[in-house]
Amino acid sequence: MATATVRGLSMNYTEAGAGAPVVLLHGFPFNHSMWRGQVEALRHTHRVITPDLRGHGATSVTSEAATMEEMAQDVAALLDQLEVERATFGALSMGGYVTLAFCRLFPQRVRALILADTRPHADTNEARANREAMAQHALAEGMAAIAETMLPKLLAPATLNDQPEITARVREMILNTQPEGAAAALRGMARRRDQTSLLPEILAPTLIIVGSEDALTPPADSELMHREIRGSQLVVIEGAGHVSNIERPTEFNDALTKFLRALEVR
Ligand code: MLT
Repeated sequence: MATATVRGLSMNYTEAGAGAPVVLLHGFPFNHSMWRGQVEALRHTHRVITPDLRGHGATSVTSEAATMEEMAQDVAALLDQLEVERATFGALSMGGYVTLAFCRLFPQRVRALILADTRPHADTNEARANREAMAQHALAEGMAAIAETMLPKLLAPATLNDQPEITARVREMILNTQPEGAAAALRGMARRRDQTSLLPEILAPTLIIVGSEDALTPPADSELMHREIRGSQLVVIEGAGHVSNIERPTEFNDALTKFLRALEVR
């Protein structure tokens, strides 16, 4: 684990392996540890960097809304410090929102994209109101209450019922998030722009992955991204929910490593 001072934040990240850089951006309200299985799968062939986004893990909490653009700029500043000019970005859910913001801000820094269980749309007014209610709930009641509300939406029913160690791992990440960090991310996500119009402009090779049981960003969102991003590939992981990389690591890593291997010959 390492720490860098970027844009006034103390930013926590891990780095493993050597080779072409791959940056993995976690979802809400998780941290870099969600990528453990992917770091293990890639560290022998790639330089894998997994930051904790602002307000998550051991990275500083900011009291304002943490917008997707702020988080994208944090990642860019971290990569500047690590002397990484261009990388492949792999991201799940909120990490995907941050990655799309990154693509708009710094398209030349994106070698390739893996967009997992995410979507390009902005929130509806109803979703924004729900985020604000959830932010206040987190601040008033703490993250245990958030974990109980979120877990049934994050994981496929079969994962929840039959895989207690996965449920415990996801719960622990949520409990390790500070309520102030979660509230700032919720307010930032509520303000995010619609990125649908960006999709046809993405020229980087793109792999889209989604769990067939993803209740938060359902397969239809991934199908839309697949239609709009030229030449993209879509992999649907049967039986996985929203946290497909943890729920079905073998299938997820197969898709990831095949995609990265194909990039080497392009
Ligand atoms: C995530 O997994 O990052 C969040 O569920 C995304 C969201 O709430 O939109």
